[in-house]
Amino acid sequence: MKAVVQHGYGPPDRVLALEDVAVPAVGEGEVLVRVRATGVNTPDWLTVGGVPRILRLQAGLRQPKAPVRGSDVAGTVAAVGPGVRDLRPGDEVFGSLWTKSIAAGAGTFAEFTLAPATQLVRKPAGLSFEEAGASVMSGLTALLAVRDVGRVGPGSRVLVNGASGGVGTFAVQIAKRLGAHVTGVCGPGNVEMVRSLGADDVIDHTVEDYTRGPQRFDVVLDNVLNHPPAATIAVLRPGGTFIPNSAGEAKGLLGGLPRVVRAKLARPRTATVRSVECDVTRENLDALSALLASGEVKVIIERSYPLADAAGAVAHMATRRARGNIAITVR
Ligand SMILES: NC(=O)c1ccc[n+]([C@@H]2O[C@H](COP(=O)([O-])OP(=O)(O)OC[C@H]3O[C@@H](n4cnc5c(N)ncnc54)[C@H](OP(=O)(O)O)[C@@H]3O)[C@@H](O)[C@H]2O)c1
Repeated sequence: MKAVVQHGYGPPDRVLALEDVAVPAVGEGEVLVRVRATGVNTPDWLTVGGVPRILRLQAGLRQPKAPVRGSDVAGTVAAVGPGVRDLRPGDEVFGSLWTKSIAAGAGTFAEFTLAPATQLVRKPAGLSFEEAGASVMSGLTALLAVRDVGRVGPGSRVLVNGASGGVGTFAVQIAKRLGAHVTGVCGPGNVEMVRSLGADDVIDHTVEDYTRGPQRFDVVLDNVLNHPPAATIAVLRPGGTFIPNSAGEAKGLLGGLPRVVRAKLARPRTATVRSVECDVTRENLDALSALLASGEVKVIIERSYPLADAAGAVAHMATRRARGNIAITVR
């Protein structure tokens, strides 16, 4: 089969190559999926560049131990391993290989991939492979941040920083659906798009700094971390929740890690700081699937790339200007 194999760390067009590799052998509890579409997420482009360099301690010192990137997947079941009883060849599925470890997994930038059966669900018929494959990590993260971590409900005032990215476009829509008043923060080219997703207020970050404004919020989901954590915490109402959700700057040895750690360890007196994990379970995938199938939450895809141009897709995500999600399709 063809797979995009990573050799060393560096610019995507230099270190990623489309190569012939063996189809992985399916094991106990696993499913071999013929990949129809996948998406690019932050862990993918960070691991291609190997920045910040500290991530190489886990991913692999000279090159990644797992040579194929990608964790989101939509496709058809090609084979199931022993113990998998509720999926069979031909089923259309979507899910993720994500296991919280940047070094793990077979990778989905390939014609076939292996996923644990517990991390796949049936794809709703009304959802394209492209939409399903590009939605998993960003959609689950947004859903869990808004619903579970922020406990957003009717009347909650929610600010989403980075409202025009993959996580942000889902978070705005899901918070609106839960009855919140939503303020989205994005760049000038995305103001209309974020408004069209249902945001009540949109702040253009090139014109206005939300940490200096008069508005106060119950929940701030911060997908950018471009302000000192204390400044963001200061815009929370008493009892509010700050959800720092960004890898921060991607350069040097530590990149944005010091700020990420400062944000996560902050213990304000009148507010709570809580992280969100992309927890890939069937229950969470079914909840995301229901939202997408209902048509009330849309998957925003800026662009789809063919597998042969996975490097282009990764390079685009690494600009940190991607609008919604970036898909990779496999014929
Ligand atoms: N907790 C988890 O398990 C988990 C899972 C997935 C992702 N994440 C994190 O979530 C973050 C967001 O990921 P993503 O996939 O949505 O994509 P992303 O590439 O990080 O976000 C792209 C968006 O960021 C916006 N942006 C850049 N600078 C900004 C600024 N100064 N103010 C406001 N927005 C700004 C851009 O908007 P404009 O072009 O409109 O400025 C662009 O639309 C990442 O840092 C990632 O590490 C965490």
